[in-house]
Amino acid sequence: MKRRVRDLLAKIYGGRADVHLDLYRLSNQHRKKHGRGCDMYPSSPLQAPLWSVIASLTHARRMLEVGCGHGYTSAVMASAGGPDCLVETVEADRVHADLAQEAFLHRGLAKRVHVLRGRGQAILPKLKGKYDVVFLDSDWREYPRYLPQLRRLTRPGSILVTANLSPLFGGWGGRLPGKRAIQSYLSRLAGDPNFRTYIIPSDWHAISVRL
Ligand SMILES: C[S@@+](CC[C@H](N)C(=O)[O-])C[C@H]1O[C@@H](n2cnc3c(N)ncnc32)[C@H](O)[C@@H]1O
Ligand SMILES: [Zn+2]
Repeated sequence: MKRRVRDLLAKIYGGRADVHLDLYRLSNQHRKKHGRGCDMYPSSPLQAPLWSVIASLTHARRMLEVGCGHGYTSAVMASAGGPDCLVETVEADRVHADLAQEAFLHRGLAKRVHVLRGRGQAILPKLKGKYDVVFLDSDWREYPRYLPQLRRLTRPGSILVTANLSPLFGGWGGRLPGKRAIQSYLSRLAGDPNFRTYIIPSDWHAISVRL
């Protein structure tokens, strides 16, 4: 990134994009070490300030993430929600879940962030109550199956953020195995009268508001 752009971003965000930056770096370091199958791609620190906006818009007390990785974004969400919030984060990979749990302990966040071990498709049906915010950042192929659960687990005004829709729009060569599933997820989400969806084209995230 050019220095001029970096300075401008620093001016816009102050230190707000630097929250838990060490965890972001640890996530990338882990992926390089873990080997080819590892998909621990943390979200961009430039999205970190957005979680404060989302948490305050929804008066977030309870948030859900599917795809915890090293815990970078869930730590950011927990900091955005403040001391009284709870973030539950689902992780299928045992190594990733262990790393995240350790990271939360070291940062004094273990009371505010709970790791739920297992695949999203197995965990979501077991969850009860409503979440103010949901962040999907795991295996796209499971997303169509999440939809009935997402309806059940949100209330009017909840915000659902779906990351990485890029292959649908030709990104990453457009060849990923999850492409069909994303297509089906997004068209079902668009046709669902319970959600109104917006797409952020620069990084292909979908932001849906529960009506
Ligand atoms: C892109 S990373 C998540 C990064 C994290 N959200 C962050 O921003 O720091 C995807 C994570 O989802 C996990 N994962 C993949 N498929 C999953 C599934 N079906 N259910 C739960 N976790 C899954 C992977 O092991 C990986 O840790
Ligand atoms: Zn890994």
